[in-house]
Amino acid sequence: MEKKKVILAYSGGLDTSVAIRWIQEKYEMDVIALGIDLGTDKDLKPAEEKALKIGAIKSMTIEAKEEFINSFIFPSLQAGALYEKVYPLATALGRPLIAKILVETAEAEGATAVAHGCTGKGNDQVRFDVAIHTLNPSLQIIAPLREWNMTRNDAIEYAQQNGIPVEVTKKSPYSIDENLWGRSIECGVLEDPWTEPPEEVYKWTNETKKTPDTPTYVEIGFERGIPVSINGKARDGLSLIQELNQIAGENGVGRIDHLENRVVGIKSREIYESPAAIVLFKAHHALEELTMTKDALRFKDLVSTQYSDIVYSGLWFSTFQQDLTAYVLSTQRFVTGTVRLRLFKSNGTVVGRKSPFSLYTHSLATYDKGDTFEHDAATGFIKIFGLATKTQAQVQQNAAKGEKQG
Ligand code: ARG
Repeated sequence: MEKKKVILAYSGGLDTSVAIRWIQEKYEMDVIALGIDLGTDKDLKPAEEKALKIGAIKSMTIEAKEEFINSFIFPSLQAGALYEKVYPLATALGRPLIAKILVETAEAEGATAVAHGCTGKGNDQVRFDVAIHTLNPSLQIIAPLREWNMTRNDAIEYAQQNGIPVEVTKKSPYSIDENLWGRSIECGVLEDPWTEPPEEVYKWTNETKKTPDTPTYVEIGFERGIPVSINGKARDGLSLIQELNQIAGENGVGRIDHLENRVVGIKSREIYESPAAIVLFKAHHALEELTMTKDALRFKDLVSTQYSDIVYSGLWFSTFQQDLTAYVLSTQRFVTGTVRLRLFKSNGTVVGRKSPFSLYTHSLATYDKGDTFEHDAATGFIKIFGLATKTQAQVQQNAAKGEKQG
């Protein structure tokens, strides 16, 4: 009888390597290893071959950077989606896309199950499982790390006994996830929230004392909330993000130290490096300040918070997410223009902004010649504007005084 097939999201690391053999033994299924490229510095070819050596019946890598940028990263930039105001959601945005590709591959290969290497304590299992079952409820989900109860040393031992290659290099105490939109680093000494992150955890950003001694200026052009150029030169999404990661990282911009609230109720300390994201969020927001009204900005802020919570908690494929996205897209109609930033000694600061749809009107704002603001109109406006407060003070504060005396 032909064995059932499972598609495993494979990274080439220890855990998912052990998982190949473990699933074969425990579930008696054939394993197809699937690597998904969302933009890392790592070459994914060796992992593809490693999976076959370990015993996968098939191994493949799917390139998904364009889809990641256009359908996940840029929409969330337009939404202003920073979880708890600071985390650009690189991992959280990557998971639903990986889940979608897992499901599509399972359907194409006639597999009855999909598998991932998440533990039972994190957000990622929630994101994968919810997304997978939203897209295809009939697929079985196997999460070996949640089931097998092995410590890291057990896993190494299992690997050695089963002829699974383990990198002999001194293993990093950190758990790292990375894609184009950012890196996340946890574990090791970082688990003490009082301990300053050691320099070795950072890979994309310079420490301040190694950054250039003169500022770097960068101009980012946006069309309807999407970044399209750097310093006047048109860029596709991929090269734009890569270039900004490089320029901002060199200037030490993009480090985040976050004590965050996980979906499963745990507070965790997380270090992130997201140079391009940090710069783009600042620039994008500066352009919104210029082109959106006060009420629209206040409301957009609420939407951003809600949107980032949805993404963080793994509810990407919900109609609520789709509805908020539709709203966000509408808000971006006039978010077109250019923002200039100064990158210097670990700070990225907006120092200029302009737009054909700018609501900033110099003749209204100026205190110099050319002022067109109607000063006389202010007196009447203030009378009516302050009327409710004045009325309240007269009635209730007088009453309060009376109470005290009585
Ligand atoms: N805490 C982040 C999140 O939930 C990142 C988790 C990524 N995993 C890691 N091994 N660092 O989105």
